[in-house]
Amino acid sequence: MTETMADQAVIITGSGQGLGRAFALRFAAEGLKVLVCDIRADSAESVAREIQEAGGTARAVAVDVTDEASTSQMCDAALSAFGRLDILVNNASIFSSLKMRPFFKIPVEEWRKVVDVNLTGVYLASRAAVPAMQDAGRGRIVNIASAVVPMGRPNYLHYVSSKAGVIGLTRGMARELGAWNITVNAVLPGATETEIERETVSPQQREALIASRSIRRAGTPDDLTGVVRFFASEDSRFVTGQSLVVDGGTVFL
Ligand SMILES: NC(=O)c1ccc[n+]([C@@H]2O[C@H](COP(=O)([O-])OP(=O)(O)OC[C@H]3O[C@@H](n4cnc5c(N)ncnc54)[C@H](O)[C@@H]3O)[C@@H](O)[C@H]2O)c1
Repeated sequence: MTETMADQAVIITGSGQGLGRAFALRFAAEGLKVLVCDIRADSAESVAREIQEAGGTARAVAVDVTDEASTSQMCDAALSAFGRLDILVNNASIFSSLKMRPFFKIPVEEWRKVVDVNLTGVYLASRAAVPAMQDAGRGRIVNIASAVVPMGRPNYLHYVSSKAGVIGLTRGMARELGAWNITVNAVLPGATETEIERETVSPQQREALIASRSIRRAGTPDDLTGVVRFFASEDSRFVTGQSLVVDGGTVFL
């Protein structure tokens, strides 16, 4: 039996730009109702508008994933706008704005902030979304981690550590939620180019990254959207606690 996802509702955190925006556009193109959530209200609104103008269903919500009340309001907004909550994509992160530096030069406040958004934010958003999924007896949580964890990429240790935490959270949470048919999986992207410029990959590193891949080209958001869709779909119903690297075949888990 093929289940249609078209009636389902999805929350995507950090979907005002970059990969989150690409996930939002993909789900909306398949007919899902999308709650576009970002700490930057203007960018969330612009992505929701883009979806609506293309004939899709979307609402925008300003959320700070480090704030418990804000994540609860986000889930309440999905339930009141769409009447259901089937999928949570934990994508929000401090990423494209990061500066590369040796770990002993990272300001401690910056360390705390990155862990707060990238790890505690996943915990809080999941915690807020789970009751509706438990009531429904089904749900999908897709956590965007990073291939920098198996690579041990240097010079942003707070980021690497936060994403390692997301992989651990994915495993433990998967065990706790299996009884409700809620799956929790992690996607580990390699460097993926979006519309946002960033300093974490220099032109020389970009060439070296591409050369280290089995598939020798730059990664694009569309290399990830179908993988996220799979973990959000009925097809992945017996897959949980897993980490899937999407990096053109650089590291093998
Ligand atoms: N692009 C890549 O190469 C790559 C590689 C591996 C993993 N990732 C991961 O994929 C995800 C998306 O990456 P991206 O390239 O689109 O990053 P990005 O930095 O362009 O986008 C992150 C989004 O999260 C939002 N955000 C930040 N703090 C927030 C908060 N407290 N609450 C709510 N939203 C907040 C930002 O406003 C932004 O819209 C991130 O989790 C990132 O770590 C990206």
